[in-house]
Amino acid sequence: MPVTNETQVRQAADVNQRLNGTRSSAWRRSRQELTLPEILAEIERIADLPLNRATTLPKEAFTSDDYFAWECENLFHPGWTCLAHVSQLPLAGDFINVDFLGEPLIVVRDKSQEVHVLSRSCPHRGMDIMPPGFGHDGHGPAEYRQGSQDRGQTRLFLCPYHSWTFELDGQLKACPEMGQAEGFERCEWALKEFRSEIWNGFVFVNLDGNAEESVQMQYEDLATNMTPWHIAEMHVVFETHWDIPCNWKVLAENFMESYHHAGAHVKTLQPIMPARGTWTETEKSNCIRCHLPYGDKVRREIVDVESNGSQWDTFPLVEGLDDPARHEWGLVMGYPLFTIVTAPDQVVWYRIEPVAPDQLRLLTSILVPESTTRHPQFAEMLERGKKEATEFHLEDMEMLSAVQRSLYSDGYQRGRLSHLEMPIWLIQRYLAAKIRGTKPTLDRDAAPAQCP
Ligand code: FES
Ligand SMILES: [Fe+2]
Repeated sequence: MPVTNETQVRQAADVNQRLNGTRSSAWRRSRQELTLPEILAEIERIADLPLNRATTLPKEAFTSDDYFAWECENLFHPGWTCLAHVSQLPLAGDFINVDFLGEPLIVVRDKSQEVHVLSRSCPHRGMDIMPPGFGHDGHGPAEYRQGSQDRGQTRLFLCPYHSWTFELDGQLKACPEMGQAEGFERCEWALKEFRSEIWNGFVFVNLDGNAEESVQMQYEDLATNMTPWHIAEMHVVFETHWDIPCNWKVLAENFMESYHHAGAHVKTLQPIMPARGTWTETEKSNCIRCHLPYGDKVRREIVDVESNGSQWDTFPLVEGLDDPARHEWGLVMGYPLFTIVTAPDQVVWYRIEPVAPDQLRLLTSILVPESTTRHPQFAEMLERGKKEATEFHLEDMEMLSAVQRSLYSDGYQRGRLSHLEMPIWLIQRYLAAKIRGTKPTLDRDAAPAQCP
């Protein structure tokens, strides 16, 4: 019997993580695995194969410390990463702590309603002003929301080490006993601010501060597709954290290909969106977009249910969606890590935080229109929405952990891809383009759409 219970799945992920630990990087190096230049060359080679010859990445692309460091340097640090949605920070003083690529960050709304992404590293002696897991009762004005480890509300930030205090925009407000420090100017010692941008209600950060394009320019293609959902006005109504013992690409590949509806989700998603009908749009320079149309049986069911004046979907429909958006899920991956599902009644957002070659932290969230949250039956709907979102994610968790384990095994073989796995091949083409110092479609013809 496959495991489906959440506690069991979380424990199984831990077991898989420990088993991976026996295959340390030193042990793997002694097995003469591919070096970084060899991995990069192999990615470039396979990305130029046509889709009908496509194969999986070399296993070292999912396991090598050197290659993971290359990705941090070339994809994540220079790119834009989505950290939060504005509905999670409605009031001045609302903050969310995120540790992204080892960088301790706070996303905060200041008194003038502006959102900032600040470092939590104190400019005095480097203390993390809100170290994860320690709590803040008794040594700070910040109050964590009940049951939350990563967010709360505050008037100002207080470093617990020597009690320097900072305004919500990071400026140093007070620092005791610094009067004798010659040349010390308070205005020069703010918390470091990272470059950020709000796009469609999502707060993005650019860690190295040098991204050539703004988020708006980069995701121009996506914006048109997402307009009907008015995501900037939506509300995050459910979130869950997951620690997953797998490489971020194992998750991204799983998120974007729907071939696995026929296996992992055979009882949940396959009856609604059969794998065979799913398809991927023409290649784009900054994103991948896939369509998961509802099957005929479900479409008939919807007509029946709605003709009785009832609601088939979990939440009320997002207003103004036309066909095909009314009868499908859309999958979006904005390079490198922005991943959302657009459904007729909700948007699901995955915040992917790569931690190590074989480890990631994931925050899964559901967003709905504000009007949905005021529906008299909203509480019941939300319970159903949580159950569904958790159910199909648990099915994926098993695959993610087990695939990563296999990548360390001597029995692992590079596989061939189905045409339904076009997004995996597009991710390879994105990686190869980054290796060549460009973006997909700029120095190669755009791959045509894969239609059913
Ligand atoms: S390290 Fe923050 S006040 Fe000293
Ligand atoms: Fe899945």
